[in-house]
Formats: sequence, C-alpha cells, structure tokens
Amino acid sequence: MRSLLKLWAFTLLAVAVEAQRFVRFISTDGKEYTGDAVMPAGVTDASKSTSAKVIRGDILGDFEITDTVKPIRTLLAPIAPERVRTVRCVGFNYIAHAGEANVTIPEFPILFYKPWTALSTPSDPIPVTSGYQTQGNFTSKMDYETELVVVIKKAGSDIPLDQALDHVLGYSVGHDVSHRGWQIERGGQPQPQYSMGKGADGWAPWGPAIVSTDVIPDPQTLNIWTKVNGVTMQNETTANMIFGVKELVSFFSMGITLLPGDVIFTGTPSGVQLGKTDPVWLVDGDVVEVGLENVGTCTNALKYV
Ligand SMILES: *[C@@H]1O[C@H](CO)[C@@H](O)[C@H](O)[C@H]1NC(C)=O
Ligand SMILES: *[C@@H]1O[C@H](CO)[C@@H](O)[C@H](O)[C@H]1NC(C)=O
Ligand SMILES: *[C@@H]1O[C@H](CO)[C@@H](O)[C@H](O)[C@H]1NC(C)=O
Repeated sequence: MRSLLKLWAFTLLAVAVEAQRFVRFISTDGKEYTGDAVMPAGVTDASKSTSAKVIRGDILGDFEITDTVKPIRTLLAPIAPERVRTVRCVGFNYIAHAGEANVTIPEFPILFYKPWTALSTPSDPIPVTSGYQTQGNFTSKMDYETELVVVIKKAGSDIPLDQALDHVLGYSVGHDVSHRGWQIERGGQPQPQYSMGKGADGWAPWGPAIVSTDVIPDPQTLNIWTKVNGVTMQNETTANMIFGVKELVSFFSMGITLLPGDVIFTGTPSGVQLGKTDPVWLVDGDVVEVGLENVGTCTNALKYV
C-alpha cells in the first residue's frame, strides 16, 4: 500500500513537470497565457497548434500544467522579451557556412550579443528602418540566418560539459536577421562587427515554442532550414555544428553566470547570401520562414518602415 501511494505521488509529480512545448500566446479572450501546446495529430510544428493547456506559475521556476485548454489566437515570443536578460549569439558555427564566407574555422566559439529589444514573435514583420535601407551607393544588404535557440532554465557558471544540458529548458528556432553592409563594409577593419549589423529592434524573431529536453534529448540531430518566399535557401542538420549545445553552454559560462531565461542563438548553417557572387538581398515584403525539425517555424516578412 505504501509503495502504491508512493508510486501514485511520483506519477502525479512526473505529469506535473512534463511540459512538451511551452508557448506564450494571446487567446480569443484577448488575454495573455503561457501554455503547453496541444498538437494536432501528426503535426510537430508548434506554429500550427490552435490551443494549449494553460500553465500556472513560471516556466523558469515552479509551474503546473492545468487541465484548462485555451484557444491560441496569436503566438508571442515564448518568453516575454524584457524577461530575457542576455541574448547570446554565435558566429560561424557550421563548417560549410565558414567556407562560403571564406573565414577560417574558429578554434573557440565566436560570441556576440543582441539587445533584448531585438527579440520578436514568430509572425511579426521585421522592421527595416531608413538607416538599413539603400542610401545612394550603400546597398541594403539584408540577409537571413536560421538558428537553433537554446533557452537556459537553471543559473550557473563554469558549467562542466557533462552538466551543460541540465541547465537547458528546451529549444526553439530563431532568425538572426543580418545587414551585411553594417556588419562588414561599415564594420571597421580588419574585423567585422556584429552589433550594428544584427541588433536592430525586431531582428531576432523566435519561437514558435520552447520544446523541452524531454522531447528533444539530443539537439544535434535536427534538420534546420530557411525558405524565402517559399523557396528553400538553407537546409542542413544541427549535427554539422562546430560547437554543439553542450560546448556552447559550458564555454559561455566561463566566469559568467548564465541566468534563467537567457537565450543562445547557436549560429547558422550554409546557404546565406553573404559570400555569393551574385547575392540577392532581402527587400521589403520578402517572407522568410526559419524552421527546425520537431520545433516548428517562424514566418516573418521584411517591412521597410
Ligand atoms: C579567401 O580568403 C583568403 C585569405 O584571406 C584570400 O586569399 C582569398 O582571396 C579569399 N577568397 C575569396 C574567394 O574571397
Ligand atoms: C559612395 O559614396 C560616397 C559619398 O556619397 C563616396 O565617398 C564613396 O567613395 C562612394 N563609394 C563607392 C564605392 O562608390
Ligand atoms: C531538406 O532536405 C531534406 C533531405 O534532402 C528534405 O527531405 C527536406 O524536404 C528539405 N527541407 C526543405 C525545407 O527543403
């Protein structure tokens, strides 16, 4: 009897913590909720979910998945932007991408930051303000980059490799929107800079959900792609990352505390316009879909504002 009770208590606990796909959304009542997406049969793209089980509490702390199901009207960024204290991003983390850009394969992960004001939803337009549009002979060199995004749940510093994934809540897909003119041409010599070329408001759409490490125990086996106006431009696997999720979490925590809610954009595979002989830069109205297997898609249009 005692062991039966124990088993019962254990089952309850296990059910309570096992969220699969964390989403933040506006429901038909106009209110904002956090939930566990209810997926239609045979669908793994969380952007296609139309309802979610409401989560009470904080997905970065203690929470509970309730039985209340609410319809999803609009998916938001999975964590409110202002709760994300640091947006880390990685440069040149896929061999073929380093190759197409003609840079040497990095010996250590290349880190840069975006401000949290860059974070955006899986569907809002990507604003391109006048400073990033073509001015005289300075071309608007807007490029796309699909990336696996890691979400930190447990604070830590100097995290050993074998404990790195214990600090991860789950995975999303993100778009590291990039302007090659400000990143490279106007980036200073001999090194390019990243922040002016990648940090503008709305230049880091992400979502559509945070898919838990229960659903994705190994993040290095996932197909990752970009479509521009419906045409596939990038399509690789996260197995091709030079530094995998474990290495990035461990390396970036060297003497630095990673905090709950921090996100890491882990670099883009090959297929971007940078490095092409005849690049076709993104322009006003172009629709970019970034996708990650078992996670879903973010679809955002460029919008000159
Ligand atoms: C690639 O980089 C090397 C070394 O910086 C340079 O010599 C070469 O011309 C570059 N190739 C292209 C196609 O840009
Ligand atoms: C672009 O225009 C600026 C002035 O408007 C000029 O200084 C610069 O040399 C031009 N660059 C090229 C590559 O034509
Ligand atoms: C990516 O490539 C795989 C394997 O060739 C293919 O099955 C898949 O449809 C491609 N994805 C996209 C978005 O084109």
